[in-house]
Amino acid sequence: MNGQNLSQRGRWGSKIAFIFAATGSAIGLGNIWRFPMVVGKYGGAVFVLVYIIAVALVGFTVMLAELTLGRYTQQNAVGAFEKIKPKTPWKIIGFVGMLTSFCIFSYYSVIAGWAAGYFAKTVSGTFKGTVTSQLSEKIFTDFTSDSVQAIVCLFIVVGITTFIISRGVKDGIERWTKVLMPLLLILIIFLAVKALTLSGAREGISFYLKPDFSKLNGTVILYAFGQAFFSLSIGMGIMITYGSYMPKSVNLVSSAGWVSFSDSLIAFLAGIIIFPTLFALPGIEPTAGPGLVFKVFPLIFSQIPGGNYFGILFFMLLLVAAITSTISLLEVSVSYFIDARNWSRKKAAYLLGIIAFFLGIPSALSAGGMKFFTDIDFMGKFDVIFANIMLAVGALFICIFVGWVWGIKTAVKEIHSGNPRFNIRPLWIFSLKILSPIVIIIILIFIKKIISG
Ligand code: PHE
Repeated sequence: MNGQNLSQRGRWGSKIAFIFAATGSAIGLGNIWRFPMVVGKYGGAVFVLVYIIAVALVGFTVMLAELTLGRYTQQNAVGAFEKIKPKTPWKIIGFVGMLTSFCIFSYYSVIAGWAAGYFAKTVSGTFKGTVTSQLSEKIFTDFTSDSVQAIVCLFIVVGITTFIISRGVKDGIERWTKVLMPLLLILIIFLAVKALTLSGAREGISFYLKPDFSKLNGTVILYAFGQAFFSLSIGMGIMITYGSYMPKSVNLVSSAGWVSFSDSLIAFLAGIIIFPTLFALPGIEPTAGPGLVFKVFPLIFSQIPGGNYFGILFFMLLLVAAITSTISLLEVSVSYFIDARNWSRKKAAYLLGIIAFFLGIPSALSAGGMKFFTDIDFMGKFDVIFANIMLAVGALFICIFVGWVWGIKTAVKEIHSGNPRFNIRPLWIFSLKILSPIVIIIILIFIKKIISG
């Protein structure tokens, strides 16, 4: 890496800056939009249970492995493998991760675009007055099936992301997350309390928190693990890239723990808002899919005095949360082209941004905008392929690489810098080398059966 590139790469200003950026990457639509959607579709409380297990056992393990690999090598997702095992096929993991993050970026931006659209709607007063389930349903369908709007919203999100990335990691990402993430947490807690006090909230809570084990099956497990990887932003090299910007003095274990915990907390709270509201104000099914959150949130705002203002604030913060995630999704590829191809940050950001925009168009048109893409459920297919399958594959290879190929000793040594005690070392090693790979392999073996059945 030459001197110019060193300065192009950037570095976090402090530990707290990294924490905010990584939490910002993890917290996003995955927590507020995707988590309730998959919980609603795949079994309710039992899904939540499997999800928690997935985060605690496998998610945390992989996140720590990625951060360690990134900080040790000081490289992007591809370069990290190349540095440790030069001229071997191992770097393919990095490339696959890069491709995965890029493809996720394309459809994720569509949903973020919906958040932008809903922000504009609340500002213009669309949801003022009483909002019924039918009305909410109609507003959503009209909005997402308007192809011009969907594409414009996509363009806005990709544009903002590209702009921020082109200005660099430190100025770009740090500034956003510091203030706005805590604000999001406060608002979500407030809304959760409100949802719990709706009359009729009980049934929703029991759907969400009282497991019905007869609903447990392979599909639930597949989607719960996929959701864990997606929500934690792991399995594709994001945490390798972010780890590479981290100073040696940072405690990687507590960082990974904090990110996993706060991410899961926000997802959990999002469910506390959605399900009681859904059951208290009936008309929308838990299985509603991608529209679930967009249909339900306006309902709860209409129950609160001055709800429209909460709506404005909520959709703004949702958009910000989404953008701190889209930044990380695109940063994987940008960072690669800067390090390996000597591109300037600006060139990498704008070129990749343009490609991603075009790649996102079929997804933008697949919620009613164009019959062909809607019929084949383009976005849904992309989501299953990349978020469920490819992330699991990525996570598996990261476990194998760090646990067996790189050599656990060096990894542990890297973790020790910043955390000399590292109490959970035996547990982490066991999970990394044996438990997590086996669990993921089992899921992957059954994937075809699960998806077709
Ligand atoms: N974790 C982010 C979220 O939950 C989405 C994301 C996935 C970001 C993968 C980066 C990588 O919204």
